[in-house]
Amino acid sequence: MKIRQRAISLDLNSFFSAFFDKEVQKYMEYIRPCIASMKGYVPGLQPDPNQKYIKLNSNENPFPPSPRVKEVLRELKYEDLRIYPDPISLELREKLGSLYGFSPNQIICGNGSDDILNIIIRTFAQPGEAVGFFEPTFPLYRVLGVIHGVRIISLPVDEPYDQPPLPPDDVKIFFLANPNSPVGFAYSTSRIAEMAREIKAVFVVDEAYAEFARENALALVRQLANVIIVRTVSKSYSLAGLRLGYAIGNEKLIAEMLKVKDPFNVTLLTQSLVAAALEDQEYLRNNVSRIIDTREWFSKEAAALGYRIIPSEANFVFPQPPQKGRGIGFYKTLFNRKILTRHYDEEGLRDGVRMTIGTRQEMATVLKVMKEILPQFSNK
Ligand SMILES: Cc1ncc(COP(=O)(O)O)c(C=O)c1O
Repeated sequence: MKIRQRAISLDLNSFFSAFFDKEVQKYMEYIRPCIASMKGYVPGLQPDPNQKYIKLNSNENPFPPSPRVKEVLRELKYEDLRIYPDPISLELREKLGSLYGFSPNQIICGNGSDDILNIIIRTFAQPGEAVGFFEPTFPLYRVLGVIHGVRIISLPVDEPYDQPPLPPDDVKIFFLANPNSPVGFAYSTSRIAEMAREIKAVFVVDEAYAEFARENALALVRQLANVIIVRTVSKSYSLAGLRLGYAIGNEKLIAEMLKVKDPFNVTLLTQSLVAAALEDQEYLRNNVSRIIDTREWFSKEAAALGYRIIPSEANFVFPQPPQKGRGIGFYKTLFNRKILTRHYDEEGLRDGVRMTIGTRQEMATVLKVMKEILPQFSNK
């Protein structure tokens, strides 16, 4: 009897699932063609923490955030989670403003700089209009542009990266990741000023890695009306898990962006904890300088082994084994040795992998492995 009942219920299940498959097919046709034909952004793998990888694939900071964040976390009252957060993140904007010398009206906060980039596209480019960037660059600009239905004008930039073509002049927005991801090179502020002056577009300098670089372009906001700087606490402040990005620009442009953002785009937890982290600038400086030291040491050692390293101003490097086009093999070999990096199957990026700078100890292990596997990727 029981067996018969099960058979009937299995039959019904497959009947309903066939019915729903057919039903859903109708609605699949509603999906906008630009979405149906796109791949979507592929984030770095977040492995099970028990698997003990050396995780160098998402440019996260290897050190914990400031201990002040922990203190404030302990003091937070869980009952307060009942209420909505401040919709305009005023305390954070005031803190960021006094840190960098801007008025809070020149600053907007978002749910990571991903959110800020999305707000920028939706504020300044009409579907059908064009946005531009050099490539290689942060892949999200293209993804956000495609979702919003804008035309993409991408200009390939090859080595030496310091001679980029002129940015196109028929775009509404131009995105420049500086330092660049995934390669790590950075343009000087004077070069950026020249580009921003030449172009008749909103010129977005995405400074996700600025704290690890020699220069930043914040001063240009005071000189050029079209420059918007985008920053994040994900990398230098070790707060990728909280999701806080911000933009600094002309207050009239920022006022329009504030209209576009989701009403409560920064959580209460994020606002309180980031405020605590911003107060601890000494911790930030020490954290960043440890990473820069490790980056410089690692780059020198890897080059001495025979790897090609593009000088990086970020918290990652782009090592390339001597044999060209072997980036994917290099990635897989490191993966099998429990070292997680990022490989991009794209023009100009197939020779190497992007590798976040971890602790000195982690990077010493990586170097040891790179030495052992080098013969597999050597021309000799
Ligand atoms: C150049 C660049 N911009 C923005 C982001 C996004 O950062 P967030 O964590 O603030 O969304 C990243 C993340 O890797 C990045 O590399």
